[in-house]
Amino acid sequence: MKERVLVFDTTLRDGEQSPGASLNVQEKVEIARQLEKLGVDIIEAGFPASSPLQLEAVQRISRESSKVVAALARAVEKDITAAWKALQEAAKPRIHTFIGTSDIHISGKFSSDRYGRTLQEKRSTVLRMAVDAVAFAKTFTGDIEFSAEDAGRTDPGYLREIIEAVIAAGATTVNIPDTTGYTWPAEFGRKIADLKSHVPNISDAVISVHCHNDLGLAVANSLSALDFGARQVECSMNGIGERAGNASLEEIVMALKVRSDLHNFETGIVTEEIYNTSRMVSTFTGIIIQPNKAIVGDNAFSHESGIHQDGMLKSRETYEVMTPQSVGVPQTSIVLGRHSGKHGLQSRLLALGYSLEESELEALYRRFVEIADKKKEVYDDDLRGLMGDELKRPGSTFELDYLHINSGTASIPTATIRIKHRDQLYEESATGDGPVDACFRAIERALEIESMVTSYSVRSTTAGRQALGEALVRIRDRGVSFNGRGVSTDIIEASAKAYLQALGLRLNHFESNTTETIDNGV
Ligand code: KIV
Ligand code: ZN
Repeated sequence: MKERVLVFDTTLRDGEQSPGASLNVQEKVEIARQLEKLGVDIIEAGFPASSPLQLEAVQRISRESSKVVAALARAVEKDITAAWKALQEAAKPRIHTFIGTSDIHISGKFSSDRYGRTLQEKRSTVLRMAVDAVAFAKTFTGDIEFSAEDAGRTDPGYLREIIEAVIAAGATTVNIPDTTGYTWPAEFGRKIADLKSHVPNISDAVISVHCHNDLGLAVANSLSALDFGARQVECSMNGIGERAGNASLEEIVMALKVRSDLHNFETGIVTEEIYNTSRMVSTFTGIIIQPNKAIVGDNAFSHESGIHQDGMLKSRETYEVMTPQSVGVPQTSIVLGRHSGKHGLQSRLLALGYSLEESELEALYRRFVEIADKKKEVYDDDLRGLMGDELKRPGSTFELDYLHINSGTASIPTATIRIKHRDQLYEESATGDGPVDACFRAIERALEIESMVTSYSVRSTTAGRQALGEALVRIRDRGVSFNGRGVSTDIIEASAKAYLQALGLRLNHFESNTTETIDNGV
């Protein structure tokens, strides 16, 4: 009999905390639907107290998901109440509350004397806050997860004490995060073993782990924790998350699957859905997957050297420990063209994991027809690119109404742009070092803003001269980054759209984000 490891997906919460990765409500709902198909056990849908949009996204996901839906809350009543407000229509709601437990976190976050004057006093306050938070959350629902933030660097004796106390207060899952990605696999495994053997009521809760990847050890630490008693892993698609990210879902799942000879674990993941999920997350977050990324990178199954190619032709097993099919990498590419109708488009999108509402499908179809007219063959990656561009409509949209570029070897690049925003038109011209620079300057002039671009790249969505150009623009304002993506057969137009999308996300964020900083904040 195999032992089930619960997969807790935090793509929509910790993953969304990746620089620039803000997702709108509709994108979150789409990703949650795909996570459901992927077979994760728990979807952490967001942090409702942090903004009205987060709350709305958790609410929408709660309404339709059959999985456990978790919402994050600091160990304060206001956050827990917001989490419950967002979760109450969920079939299986989980409140996930947390507080920093390492001395570094305690003395940094709870420096005010009102938490106690000595470290010892502050530790007692934190323990009391944790217990009170769990008990308060328990008044709403039975499924409560408690996280001892920075458990990786928390004093072992204090960690045991707090874990025992929160279980006694009603926590049903106790999460041991390596928040800073500091621990070593054997050390982290011992931490779990220590809790297993020294916390008297530990069998009343599931032990979970949540590992960050600052030293590239997140997956190794998570697997080590499983060996020593953890039965829930928190992870994200493509490993996205704060800083260097979280443990990557696809790596943990495939390591467990491929090396099932070494252990007795199984997950409920439908591994053939990994590729589609990975691409959807990349498209919507604007975070590109590095080509050599394990499992889902473009090169994960390509063999370059002659020796390897020869070996592969004779027998795949010589150089592959799993097949591309097992993770859903498509073997043949299906091409749509200008004669493909709306139903053809819809069924291709469904196969890629996108289930659009009628109005969204209508809008996408119009874009599809425009593209198909220009480039004849429309590939899956073109459709993914279009989805990233079309669905990412920030509430405060800046629409590209008109763009004219003058450029050549003997002329000064000049751009004229007209932008529509909240029923007003903004028009300006500018020159620049090149056509993209001129276009960005014209946007900045028209909207009367300083340049905020921190990175810009352009690539083709598929091979060949007729490929769509996909531009990615990252901007940064007041310490927050926003990723914009634009797709077009014309790369200057794609670039302008990407910049405008990022600017729309920025405006949306600062108009709707009401998070106030409190002492025990994330
Ligand atoms: O990294 C961390 O500690 C977290 C917690 C909120 C679980 O993300
Ligand atoms: Zn985290």
